[in-house]
Amino acid sequence: MKLCMIGTGYVGLVSGVCFSDLGNNVICVDNDVKKVENLKKGVIPIYEPGLDELVLKNYNNKRLKFSTDLKNSILKSDIIFICVGTPTKKNGNGADLSQIYNVAKEIRKSISKFKIIITKSTVPITTGDEIEKIISQKVSKKFFSVVSNPEFLREGEAIRDFTYPDRVVIGTNDRRSNKILKNLYSPLISKGAKYINTTRRAAELIKYASNAFLATKVTFINELANLCEKIDVNIEDISIGMGLDKRIGGRFLRAGPPYGGSCFPKDTKAIASTADKFKTNLSVIKSVIKSNDNRSSLLLKRVFNILKNKIKNKKICFLGVTFKANTDDMRDSSSLSMIPSLIKKGAKINYFDPTGEKDDFKKLKNVNFSNNIASAVKDSDLIIIHTEWNDFKSINFKKIVMNKKFIIFDMRNIYTAKKMKNLNIKYFGVGC
Ligand code: UGA
Repeated sequence: MKLCMIGTGYVGLVSGVCFSDLGNNVICVDNDVKKVENLKKGVIPIYEPGLDELVLKNYNNKRLKFSTDLKNSILKSDIIFICVGTPTKKNGNGADLSQIYNVAKEIRKSISKFKIIITKSTVPITTGDEIEKIISQKVSKKFFSVVSNPEFLREGEAIRDFTYPDRVVIGTNDRRSNKILKNLYSPLISKGAKYINTTRRAAELIKYASNAFLATKVTFINELANLCEKIDVNIEDISIGMGLDKRIGGRFLRAGPPYGGSCFPKDTKAIASTADKFKTNLSVIKSVIKSNDNRSSLLLKRVFNILKNKIKNKKICFLGVTFKANTDDMRDSSSLSMIPSLIKKGAKINYFDPTGEKDDFKKLKNVNFSNNIASAVKDSDLIIIHTEWNDFKSINFKKIVMNKKFIIFDMRNIYTAKKMKNLNIKYFGVGC
């Protein structure tokens, strides 16, 4: 099939490359000339394990193309995926849909035969209706159908999530589009993915509801971790004990820093704000947002306690600064607030991240990037394990820290208190 992905950000690029790998002809379009030129040279703008090999393979076999020519790319394609950003509005909590609507206006200029127009970007309920309205101002409805097909890709696991999804959600009442899309996804359905056809509005809501529910799960276990710290119970036991109940499930029950990234914070705010518009109070989600917003300062208080409030001149090392492992994404990472707060109190920060130095910290005084674990932890008073990279899971701290009295605060519980006690290392985890 001939596909066009508009926007080569995370969603558009990963989905486009994966669709081409399934044998489709895909044009990935972007108005960022430099980005497109780089992609043609094999320079990938995001960190995603396995993506560069897949781009190279499909670009070389000519199933995957990159272009800045939106008009021609649309004309040549049967299925158009809108994959542009829907950031949180500058003044408010709703999603900024200006890029989506601009694209809709561009699409309507290039429809000469029937095309399926799909929103893959996360868009609030009724956005599909609005896109349909914009296009139908210039084009007869018999030439197009607007469908919602949300993505459920996790950063760092995106290729696997695309290839082996739990479900494919298609929001449309149009039988013809449904048939074509079922065919497009048939290689994934035959490997076990469930295919769900529902209304467009329902598909839009499924995406927000899924992210908001997962964010609630994470926040729930984080709050229980706070309780566990006071009653000498290990949160890991609670996660296992709860997660084995199939109605609950063990995934997304790992306590840690506040949830971050480009999706949960944005989407929880957007769904609550959309519901407000429809005069419905999503109070559970609102309290999740509030609890998550408070979490960084709670963890900081714990750091102050661990260091007995003597922060001045303490050497603190952060292992990992991104919002989670296997990504270079710093958006809404708790390190962005924790590190500046610690410097303000006089700490000296060293950090190492497997994805390299971060612009966010370059201008900060007393923050230093080390390009390997050993030099980052050397002479530290406190080592904060902030993300759960495999690189951090078997470190021989005793050998490389040098400072005899160092302490570890493991915000991801990748080690156990028992193991650290046996090694005679002072250790604190989350929720234990
Ligand atoms: C999330 C969803 O998982 C994807 O299904 C969705 O497609 C994507 O958003 C999106 O809307 O585009 P992602 O933001 O990549 O994916 O990150 P997750 O792996 O879901 O993690 C989100 C946050 O929850 C991270 O801060 C992570 O550290 C935290 N988390 C996750 C926990 O603290 N504990 C857990 O047990 C799981």
